Amino acid sequence: MKFLRLNAIPLLGFLVLSSSIFAATPDFQKDIQPLMTKYCVECHGASKPKAGVRLDSYDAIIAKSRKQSVVPGDPDKSKIVMTMTGAAKLMPPKKFTPRPTTEEIDLIKDWIKAGAKK
Ligand code: HEC
Repeated sequence: MKFLRLNAIPLLGFLVLSSSIFAATPDFQKDIQPLMTKYCVECHGASKPKAGVRLDSYDAIIAKSRKQSVVPGDPDKSKIVMTMTGAAKLMPPKKFTPRPTTEEIDLIKDWIKAGAKK
């Protein structure tokens, strides 16, 4: 029994560690909105948004979107991901800097995969 108990300690540590790495679903306010503000809102804000696509608030991105900007659960069908990865017309447009990093795009994908909650 003593042997078993000792072995359970590192296993427990691993479980705690891995759940804190994998279970963290990105949060809209904390993780996603700042990326939109940084890369997209300059052209997709409330006034005269390009292509009629507004990305300046949760409601604008999800509820009021006419362009499937986000399809909850399906990042590959979500225009904001498709445009960032180049699967659709590249966004931000080519010459615009800074550009979102792969890590930032993955964060947005994870958020959408998890249901794109507010
Ligand atoms: C420098 C201005 C600018 C920035 C920054 C920008 N866009 Fe755009 N966006 C445009 C323009 C212009 C269009 C219309 C392009 C067209 O139809 O030819 C557009 C169109 C779109 C569309 C509609 C495309 C379609 O196929 O219907 C989406 C979705 C989009 N942008 C998402 C984004 C996202 C997501 C970001 C940030 C990562 C972003 N844009 C950043 C200028 C911008």
